[in-house]
Amino acid sequence: RQKIIMDVDTGIDDSLGLLYLLACDDAEIVGIASTAGNVPARRVAANNLALLDLCRAPAVEVALGADTPLAIPLRTTEDTHGPQGIGYAELPPSPRPLSPRTAARMWVDLVREHPGEIIGLCTGPLTNLALALRIEPQLPLLLKRLVVMGGAFDHPGNTTPTSEWNVHVDPEAWKEVFDAFGAAHAHPRPLVCGLDVTETIEMFPAHLTRLAEVAESLPAQEVSETDPPGSRSKASNPIVRFLTDAVRFYFEFHQQYDQGYLAHMHDPFAAAVALDPTLAVTRPATVDVELTGTLTRGATVADRSGMWGREPNADIVIGTDPAVFFERMIDKVGTFARA
Ligand code: BDR
Ligand code: CA
Repeated sequence: RQKIIMDVDTGIDDSLGLLYLLACDDAEIVGIASTAGNVPARRVAANNLALLDLCRAPAVEVALGADTPLAIPLRTTEDTHGPQGIGYAELPPSPRPLSPRTAARMWVDLVREHPGEIIGLCTGPLTNLALALRIEPQLPLLLKRLVVMGGAFDHPGNTTPTSEWNVHVDPEAWKEVFDAFGAAHAHPRPLVCGLDVTETIEMFPAHLTRLAEVAESLPAQEVSETDPPGSRSKASNPIVRFLTDAVRFYFEFHQQYDQGYLAHMHDPFAAAVALDPTLAVTRPATVDVELTGTLTRGATVADRSGMWGREPNADIVIGTDPAVFFERMIDKVGTFARA
């Protein structure tokens, strides 16, 4: 089974990424680092623990990350993910203990214990990973591969006109991480799922309906409608109920910004790619981030043809087939929810 460290700011779509990997028999989550981002780090950690309970998952280490980004105050986004970070869903507080070590320490210890075996999957700001690199500069060579959701290359930002949320929250961390992986000549290169592609992963209510059908072993026609907007899900399956209540908030958020009644599945896509990179078409690039522009701070820039005279430090995702992703996600998570 593929060992994975998740570093998340859970987060509606982070939740679904976690459910997806828990549902995949070929994945073993060896640690979950909780990053301040969508909501504060403590809330992220509480969500991670509660989700493990929801899934009746075996013990998985959940570590707390730094309270704030490397150089700037924390900005959170409850209007995107709900007051607790999980939309309209409510989960009971978990009795599971938090790890006694920090998220950065956990990263370092785990990659030293399992050199070359772990895939790191970051779907939040890169604060913890940057702190881990300060402790262990060899980390890029100890990981099997790094997969990151973040950035926007040939695409506008979703937080400022030029900046994607995970980069916007901690641009200094993004720079430290990609500079370090570049300097270490990490191979394979970090795989970066930016908005260019993750915004093509559009979840509609019909996807959730289908997932509920799989979870409840019903033929396609028998479950007709999801619950009407505004109402709490009546689904009897707890995982389906959680997803319906969480993602409804995300649908409404996207609709509010005129994107339609849909939700971009940024983080679950990155999770799927971590386990199966063949889902993504990529190209090598040297990526860097603007830290000083008065209008463009947090913009990720990709040099694809060596104009900077620097070696590529990433493989950026330039294409995928969203239908393949959704089929897989619905099948895995639906079947998992049924069990
Ligand atoms: C990213 O921002 C967060 O709000 C989501 O969880 C995702 O990781 C998309 O820009
Ligand atoms: Ca996230």
